[in-house]
Amino acid sequence: MKINLFDLSRQISPLRKSFTKAFEEVLDKNEFTHGEQTVMLEKNFANFVDCKYALGVKSGTAALIVALKALELQKDDEVITTPMTFSATSDAIIHAGAKIVFADVDPKTGNLDPESIEKVKTKRTKAILLVHFAGVPCEMTKIVSFCKKNKLFLIEDASHAHGSIYKNKKIGSFGDLACFSFYPSKAFGSLGNAGIITTNNKKLLKKAQMFAEHGLYGKKYKHRLVGYNEKIDNLQSAFLNVKLPLLEGWIEKRLKIAKKYQAVFAKKGVKTVVWPEYSKPSLYIFSIFIKNRGKFAKYLSDNGVGSGTYYPTTLHLQESLKFLGYKKGDFPNAELYAKQTLSIPFYPELTNQEIDFICDLIKKYEF
Ligand SMILES: Cc1ncc(COP(=O)(O)O)c(C=O)c1O
Repeated sequence: MKINLFDLSRQISPLRKSFTKAFEEVLDKNEFTHGEQTVMLEKNFANFVDCKYALGVKSGTAALIVALKALELQKDDEVITTPMTFSATSDAIIHAGAKIVFADVDPKTGNLDPESIEKVKTKRTKAILLVHFAGVPCEMTKIVSFCKKNKLFLIEDASHAHGSIYKNKKIGSFGDLACFSFYPSKAFGSLGNAGIITTNNKKLLKKAQMFAEHGLYGKKYKHRLVGYNEKIDNLQSAFLNVKLPLLEGWIEKRLKIAKKYQAVFAKKGVKTVVWPEYSKPSLYIFSIFIKNRGKFAKYLSDNGVGSGTYYPTTLHLQESLKFLGYKKGDFPNAELYAKQTLSIPFYPELTNQEIDFICDLIKKYEF
């Protein structure tokens, strides 16, 4: 049996007719940039995360840059973030003109550790940019209260967490602003690049809107600030509108698969992605923690099963961020997390037969 780490075609193929219809509707209306589909997506996605407002943008990266620009950070302002993420998260801080300050992560979840955040906070800290890694919510009670106490902005990078819940509240509704990527392979992805910002703060929404649209503030050719061209294409919105009603079902299926995997790995004494009982994650990837991941990856591959490592090099050790002056050993939990995780096939379209096949392989392996 051959089971790829990821197989987007299984999700796309059954929706082909709906996507084609959505495409034809956009063609008929000649609405390629702004349009009805985007208005609908913004309304429905805001509802989905229990927020008042949403702003569709061209990518998760654009969401992060525009959101951080909306905070109007200054040159010496510091933004605390995680080294265990995709480079877009921290790069956005640089693009917004501020300084990146990394903190370490919780070794169990890969999420920013509230105690480590406290340790790196200085007088110049203006914001925290967290990532709900793999879809598991960060410890929001502690982080939100820390931000309130210290008057810091909170930005959520929710690119892995479309629909995750923390203590009965949707991820994407905790921060001053939250950013989602709709990259095709995400748990909720488009048919190209796209992203969205969610917020309950009308003032910040307006600022973000201006940065996303050349600083326009409602009047044609009237620009209030120097902005970008980052609004989502209407066609991507149309595709996302096809998929949004299906998202809850996909989240449930992923959770079911995760629980099956967890049970099998637990019997073998292998640690996996975990979350506290007061959270309900919309899981993006399923990872295990093992010392010799290469050997297990080869065993899976020899049996036709794909696997992979997301973010094997933490951001503080990337060449692009060398100028920050961090070194190996600065964030031991993040470094260990990056070194020891391995992801296995995890998508709602996996058949029971395939899941059983993978579980049998795990049972037979000597960890
Ligand atoms: C945590 C995180 N933030 C931001 C991004 C950037 O999103 P995009 O690829 O849509 O620009 C990604 C994409 O992989 C991501 O995983």
